[in-house]
Amino acid sequence: MKSLRAFFAATTAVCAAGAAQATDLEVTHWWTSGGEAAAVAEFAKAFDATGNKWVDGAIAGSGGTARPIMISRITGGDPMGATQFNHGRQAEELVEAGLMRDLTDIAKEEAWQEIVRPASLLESCTLDGRIYCVPVNIHSQQWLWLNNAVFEDNGLDVPATWDDFVAAAPKLEEAGVIPLAMGQQPWQTTLAFQVLLVALAGPDAYTKIFGDKDAELAGGADMAKVFQAAATARDMAKDSNVQNWNDATTMVITGKAAGQIMGDWAQGEFAVANKVAGKDYSCLPGLGVNKVIQTGGDAFYFPKVDDPEITAAQGELAKVMLSPDTQVAFNLKKGSLPVRGDVNLEAANDCMRKGLDILSEGAIIQAPDQLMSADSLTQVNDLFVEFFNDPSMSAEDVQKQFASIVASAD
Ligand code: GAL
Repeated sequence: MKSLRAFFAATTAVCAAGAAQATDLEVTHWWTSGGEAAAVAEFAKAFDATGNKWVDGAIAGSGGTARPIMISRITGGDPMGATQFNHGRQAEELVEAGLMRDLTDIAKEEAWQEIVRPASLLESCTLDGRIYCVPVNIHSQQWLWLNNAVFEDNGLDVPATWDDFVAAAPKLEEAGVIPLAMGQQPWQTTLAFQVLLVALAGPDAYTKIFGDKDAELAGGADMAKVFQAAATARDMAKDSNVQNWNDATTMVITGKAAGQIMGDWAQGEFAVANKVAGKDYSCLPGLGVNKVIQTGGDAFYFPKVDDPEITAAQGELAKVMLSPDTQVAFNLKKGSLPVRGDVNLEAANDCMRKGLDILSEGAIIQAPDQLMSADSLTQVNDLFVEFFNDPSMSAEDVQKQFASIVASAD
């Protein structure tokens, strides 16, 4: 009889412990496209398998829409359990205000310093020697995505460089194809501009301008070429009147447009459309000119809450996001690269392999968010949006304004 009592007591204890760990955790992010949702589902599945519950807090629109909402909830006393930000300085003020959870103990326990590469990703999470976020992927912005059939059907070779792509534009337009698809959200025109800058002026110039704030370089001859190319891109994209980046990607997937300058998260859309890299579409890192990738991407931060169950669940999520299996499952769907080098990426496609090769060669530069303050970057973004939306604005005009913003940037 005694053993039966002992059995029930033990079972109750285990159930209670299990129940105590079944915590709902609200996770906010801006991943709402088809490919992004498929990737989020991998995080949710992995977290639910720990016995907790991922409560999805997707915020539609771009990061520029979502981040103010996330920040106001945290500063307004209505924090979520975890939230996405980009690698870099976006959450810096929240961390400095003491509102975000210190993850240093977990990072030590899980050996993140040894696992995460490049080191800049964890450095972007670190303030005064303490770690406040878990990096989950490496996204690079420097890609041109091309629909192979659109070129082949019009008797054109699939471009290998930006110049080839520009040269093909007149024939594409004659055939009723929009050469360049571009969404009209501010961050997309800025992304296109920075990709042109790194590709055509070179990674050193990019780092000197965004990192060292070299205004002379920003106003010089090398950059004049970039502004001319931006004017050409503006003309090639003039008929692509869509807002969201993934709507522009869909234009390329369906052949309405020939190409798109976009980060490698575009791959998630090609994947959900069952398109095969190298066969249905091509990807030109660095526009086929300067093959470097920015180590941009995403990290998750955890608001400090006075609730031991939520705090425990936050720790579980931080750990599971970096586990080898989750890193592979999530990044393959997201089109990004894993933040750890010890995972099996047999299933990686042609484009992801190009990214991994560039990463292994160390041809990396930091993302603008990691080099320039959010305020300065907003000024740069606004200028490029104005330029792309106003064909009367000359390349010379916008370059002068760009140089003066860089001169006072931090
Ligand atoms: C970026 C983010 C990516 C991607 C993109 C478009 O900021 O790093 O994960 O989803 O936004 O939403």
